[in-house]
Amino acid sequence: MRDRGWTIFVTTIYLIAAGFFIYFFGTDQTYLDPTELGLVILLTSLLLLLSFGTTVGSGSGTHSSITLPIIIPALYLLGPFWGGFVSAIGTIQPNQIKKGFPVYIFILNRAMIFISVIISSFWLRFLVNGGFEWINIWIVAAIGFSYNLVNNIMLWAGLWADRKLSSGNNFILFALERTRTVFISTLVAVIFIIVYQSHALPGILILFALVFLFRDVLQARFKHINSFFQVIESFARVIDTKDPYTRGHSERVAQYVEDIGRRAGLSPIRIPRIVQAAKLHDVGKLGIPEAILLKPGRLTAQEYDQIKSHPVRGEKLLEDIEMLDDLMAIIRHHHERYDGKGYPDGRKGEDIPFEARILSLADAFDCMTTDRIYRKAMNKEEVLEELERCSGTQFDPHLTRILIDMLQNDFYDENFGWQK
Ligand SMILES: [Fe+2]
Repeated sequence: MRDRGWTIFVTTIYLIAAGFFIYFFGTDQTYLDPTELGLVILLTSLLLLLSFGTTVGSGSGTHSSITLPIIIPALYLLGPFWGGFVSAIGTIQPNQIKKGFPVYIFILNRAMIFISVIISSFWLRFLVNGGFEWINIWIVAAIGFSYNLVNNIMLWAGLWADRKLSSGNNFILFALERTRTVFISTLVAVIFIIVYQSHALPGILILFALVFLFRDVLQARFKHINSFFQVIESFARVIDTKDPYTRGHSERVAQYVEDIGRRAGLSPIRIPRIVQAAKLHDVGKLGIPEAILLKPGRLTAQEYDQIKSHPVRGEKLLEDIEMLDDLMAIIRHHHERYDGKGYPDGRKGEDIPFEARILSLADAFDCMTTDRIYRKAMNKEEVLEELERCSGTQFDPHLTRILIDMLQNDFYDENFGWQK
């Protein structure tokens, strides 16, 4: 385990889950009649089938949106204890039972889902006692959102305890990003409950088809986006491999922008965007002759101008792709300097998009920490000196401070940040 905050977080989640378990154990909540037992087995298998079949986008909000249509009915039909049990066991993902996956994280995931279901069930009971009809789309929606909210609060607390988020990060944006598909999930859950109650077991066959169809629709969407990015990424990798000195550059810069971005309070919605931009930032170099890109000696003014055209070339190359609209400004401005002496537009300070300022810093950091034709990689002390020297001139001073803090706290060990 990493540090104290994280240990406290994990222990708290374990204790809450254990508390709920003891609270319900031995009460009539844990009693199952044969039909309910059948339902426990059926819903658990259905959930496992979904979890194991969901490869694209798993680990993100996708997995929870796909499993939610079963989790809600499980809570509805089986009550908090068994609903929680079905959800915790049914959401095991293939990567979580691979060798090397930490057992304590496996238990942590189960505990968080168990807790989310139990807390949502209190909310359900409160609404039903308040005179709402048992099957009511709004109640189901409320349960769906409550489940998501509780889950998100825990995830957020976990990320925060793990110091991946800075305190300035916005929880509302984080939760919204992960809640986008709850509406569809809720609708599927309502249909599930209604069909089950009117048609009992034969209805389950229809539900199987329905839930799988829902999964396929969601997966198809993610597959489409993923394969699109894969094409672009391999396209961008061509640039890295052209030059032995910059091999892996885009990948490393993508990691740095994510780390710096999180600490700078960039919202989780904007993180994937800046990561994609980092992977593509030098794509404009594809249009520049290798003889210039790889020239060991001094460049002529004309050659230097050609190199300097790569941010604009990159923007031009990608501008017709609608899906990448958000990335254009980041790519165009990644060589601007904080003092306005950069290119292509000579923008200054806050006029440079925030993400472009992060990218520019990460890009330069990777240059410092890798060997180049003209010099060896700098060591940590030299990098820190260079960052101090360029803070406020080349780089945004606030972002530079963040990176310096990260380095001083050994965020990157010598093998990760420094290419040997
Ligand atoms: Fe560049």
